[in-house]
Amino acid sequence: MKIEQYLRAKKSRIERLLDEILSSGEHKSRLDQAMHYAVMNGGKRLRPVLAYASAEALGAEADCADIPACVVELIHAYSLIHDDLPAMDDDALRRGNPTCHIEYDEATAILAGDALQSLAFELLSEHSSLQVADRLRVEMIVTLSRAIGRSGMAGGQTIDFFETGQVMTETDLAIMHGLKTGALIKASVRLGALSTGHAERAQLDALDNYASALGLAFQVQDDILDVEGDTAILGKQQGKDEALGKVTYPSILGLEAARDKARQLCEEAIAALEKFDAAAQPLRDLAAYVVHRSY
Ligand code: IPE
Ligand code: IPE
Ligand code: MG
Ligand code: MG
Ligand code: MG
Repeated sequence: MKIEQYLRAKKSRIERLLDEILSSGEHKSRLDQAMHYAVMNGGKRLRPVLAYASAEALGAEADCADIPACVVELIHAYSLIHDDLPAMDDDALRRGNPTCHIEYDEATAILAGDALQSLAFELLSEHSSLQVADRLRVEMIVTLSRAIGRSGMAGGQTIDFFETGQVMTETDLAIMHGLKTGALIKASVRLGALSTGHAERAQLDALDNYASALGLAFQVQDDILDVEGDTAILGKQQGKDEALGKVTYPSILGLEAARDKARQLCEEAIAALEKFDAAAQPLRDLAAYVVHRSY
């Protein structure tokens, strides 16, 4: 199956599930509406697709990863709502639509982000379609908590925010990207693998190596697209990194070297899967997709 077809199929599966979860209950409060708005407004759904592809790489059916796939997208949507707030990147456009705080208001946007995060943990903790032993369920909760907290996404966002305009080396930048973006991508792959109930340590280690390289490649390409992408295609304002004085791969290395870096990371990601059979082909194809995408 071509990767575009694979992405479409998984995207439609995850969107149906997310819509079901976010539409449940009769009365729709303003908070419910803002949560639904921020999740169901498009997006590539890369993190859920990675969770599915990781489960499949271990020979399982993708549907065992339904809940991990949902929770990583809920967390991602929460992170975007907060990332776009005036106190952070101050963006008005997200996925081709007004950002959550523009469509609603700042207080609602902050709370919608908070509630999406909490919903993700509620689902991971008790949803019955995730059929794993309690020990594994706890491991999944810990994996996600660590990925998005002070030693993960929130820590990375803090560096991004407070190091803006400071001198950063390429190593500093790789650390920041690994935290702010890489950690959730890594967790997406790992949760997908854990949801199979039969992931072995060596397989998890290889998948971690794959996801570390892929996660960094993803943010390098995000930085490149911020320089040379098109606002209409990106669905978010191009040129924001430079306007905000962010340190990025293109700003440190230049565009050509940043492109080489992304390609090299894509190869590293694919090489990490050498012990996997054809069931890991979607993961391999996703590595190439990440660095060739135009939005
Ligand atoms: C954008 O993520 C934010 C980053 C972590 C770079 P995506 O490029 O995955 O955004 P959507 O979900 O497709 O809108
Ligand atoms: C966002 O990074 C990372 C998180 C949301 C954790 P960016 O600020 O580069 O993402 P975009 O470019 O606004 O999507
Ligand atoms: Mg940001
Ligand atoms: Mg941003
Ligand atoms: Mg960006």
